[in-house]
Amino acid sequence: MTDTLPTLAILGGTGAEGSGLGFRWAHAGYPVILGSRSAERAQEGAAELNKLLGRDLVRGMDNLSAAKEAQIVIVTVPYSAQKPTISDVASALDGKILVDVTVPLVPPKVNRVQLPAEGSAVEAIQHMLGAGVKVVSAFQNVSAHHLKDLSHTVECDVLVAGDDIPSREIVIELANAVGLRGIHAGPLCNSVVAEALTSVLISINQRYKIPGAGIRITGLPGQD
Ligand SMILES: NC(=O)c1ccc[n+]([C@@H]2O[C@H](COP(=O)([O-])OP(=O)(O)OC[C@H]3O[C@@H](n4cnc5c(N)ncnc54)[C@H](OP(=O)(O)O)[C@@H]3O)[C@@H](O)[C@H]2O)c1
Repeated sequence: MTDTLPTLAILGGTGAEGSGLGFRWAHAGYPVILGSRSAERAQEGAAELNKLLGRDLVRGMDNLSAAKEAQIVIVTVPYSAQKPTISDVASALDGKILVDVTVPLVPPKVNRVQLPAEGSAVEAIQHMLGAGVKVVSAFQNVSAHHLKDLSHTVECDVLVAGDDIPSREIVIELANAVGLRGIHAGPLCNSVVAEALTSVLISINQRYKIPGAGIRITGLPGQD
């Protein structure tokens, strides 16, 4: 990456996960644009984050304008909205990295793994967009719950899957920049594990009455 941090657009950035990640990235110095179906809602979301940050660091725009302005586009919408949202901004994605956070949950039984027929939610998106967009899967296991509380260290590793290794590296930097730990998890098809794991974490949250179970990978270099 260059010395200048890339501009990040977060589609569906008015929601819990997108606004939480956006808050952390803005705090870490990244230019952040929240995207929404409504520019007004995006601006309101950005204003809320700027109030928390104490500085005007975040902008809000409609999803397409946000995707056009950014170098990296992050998708944080419900599974049912994933394909239409990405399809609406496809013209702005060529040559960019698209980070898909979507978990293919099927309400109401979100504590059950219910994977799509295509294999994983993110592979369907790479197939839809073609090789001109570097699709990377990440952050599905990071609960939104504590993201806006900077006094809280979010205890979760981020499995980063993608077929383009340099793009994976860039997304690992994004995870590391906010105190998470990004880990190479192999090609995009391996995203199926992170996507499925979220329902397991939701089951754990329900059983132990906690808001945000996470995951840790052991045995990496530098660990005891
Ligand atoms: N929440 C978590 O803790 C968490 C953790 C890990 C992964 N995830 C995954 O991250 C994604 C977002 O989760 P979330 O909890 O942030 O979801 P959310 O709050 O329900 O929705 C996020 C945003 O998506 C947009 N949206 C909702 N319905 C839409 C539709 N029909 N068409 C287009 N846009 C729509 C909305 O933005 P506008 O109305 O402003 O357009 C909304 O603010 C999901 O795939 C989820 O599984 C969530």
